[in-house]
Amino acid sequence: MAEYRIIGGRRLLGEVCTPGSKNAALPILAATVLGKRSIIHNCPNISDIQCSIEILTSLGCAVDYNGSTVVVDARGLSSQGLPKDQMEKMRSSIIFAGGLLSRFGRFTAYQPGGCELGERPIDLHLTAFETLGAVVEEESGMIVASAEKLVGDRIYLHTPSVGATQNIMLAAVLANGITVIENAAKEPEVLDLQNFLVAMGAKISGAGSSNIAIEGVCELHDVEYTVMPDRIVAGTYLAAAAITGGAIRLKNVVHYDMRPIVEKFIDMGAFVTLEEGAICLTAPNRLHGLGYLTTQPHPGFPTDMQPQMMALAAVAHDNAIIEETLFESRDKHVAELVKMGAKIINQNSKFFHVRGVARLEGATVEAKDLRGGAALVLAGLAAHGETIVTGGQYIERGYEAIQDDLLALGANIEYFS
Ligand code: EPZ
Repeated sequence: MAEYRIIGGRRLLGEVCTPGSKNAALPILAATVLGKRSIIHNCPNISDIQCSIEILTSLGCAVDYNGSTVVVDARGLSSQGLPKDQMEKMRSSIIFAGGLLSRFGRFTAYQPGGCELGERPIDLHLTAFETLGAVVEEESGMIVASAEKLVGDRIYLHTPSVGATQNIMLAAVLANGITVIENAAKEPEVLDLQNFLVAMGAKISGAGSSNIAIEGVCELHDVEYTVMPDRIVAGTYLAAAAITGGAIRLKNVVHYDMRPIVEKFIDMGAFVTLEEGAICLTAPNRLHGLGYLTTQPHPGFPTDMQPQMMALAAVAHDNAIIEETLFESRDKHVAELVKMGAKIINQNSKFFHVRGVARLEGATVEAKDLRGGAALVLAGLAAHGETIVTGGQYIERGYEAIQDDLLALGANIEYFS
């Protein structure tokens, strides 16, 4: 069981670079099954990327990865079955389905179970495949989908699901005719996938807005692409400076993607300046109250930063009300923060009342999901004394050696695998 040992109380100072985006790289890797040879730069060295590479290899692709650049040759693609082990490890493996259906007219997968955040259904993905002409059967946990040839159509999403939007894009790029996605997710990672697919020769427009149009083409060609920076890791690093009263310069960021997050730091009294491709944040010794925070689809405040902001609110002045609207139980970090002395009332796993305290006390706490684990590391940076964060394998899913970056900023942190 990997763990992090942190001695809190140090102001983080200095400069750090944001790695490539996990949530952009995963659908882009899935998209490589649609092409021939794809070279993808700035892929973060995290376990979810490793899991995607295992899936591509099991499907028959030749994959080379040096910790940053992935080279995928999909000409040897021979299987349409998504492997059970990887699907259980990483629920977002379902993102491979659209590309397989588009390329082969068939895929088999396992019903990804619920996970630490809640139900995580995939009904929007499967219904969309049926709208495009696939027959989808689900039986004892298995999903089998097949289609002679997918035919473009108009698809309305009752929820702007990121994964469903991306899976529809992947299914539609080689379909006959035009597909229009209405109420599409507007996350920057959807736009990054569009940019990648267009670079492969796909005809797609509208990503980043509520309406995306895809005109099917006959085939896609070789591509070389660089993945966008990870806006959630960037937000987490800014939060690490903010919670320690520090001052950092964060390189390799896209300002526009960071707006909802940066606004909250400014509301809490941090001083933020924007430079070409970088953000500088200087925090007061103790942040102003967070006030009311509700998570929303982009361009609202991202749910993937909710746990981190709760850690900030726990040691800020005044009170905060946090409402989680996307996931039923993104609250596994609450009890762990309370172990450190945080004053948090968890009303119903979606509504939290936080009363800021002057200081948290170091404790042994357990990460139970990726972003909740990151929040516990942040709390440890600010706490008095030693904090042990167990369950480090969750944090490794989305943070490439977070301990190295925090060490470089002056934190007293050790990692034990
Ligand atoms: C993506 O997950 C991200 N993961 C998540 O980041 C992120 O929290 C989420 O989008 C929301 O921004 C990746 O990109 C790999 P959704 P995804 O489908 O696509 C409901 C992290 O920490 N829904 O947008 O699975 C669902 O229940 C991870 O990096 C349906 O009802 O999220 C949820 O309430 C965690 N039916 C809402 O949509 C469906 O078929 C948003 O989920 C699909 C989703």
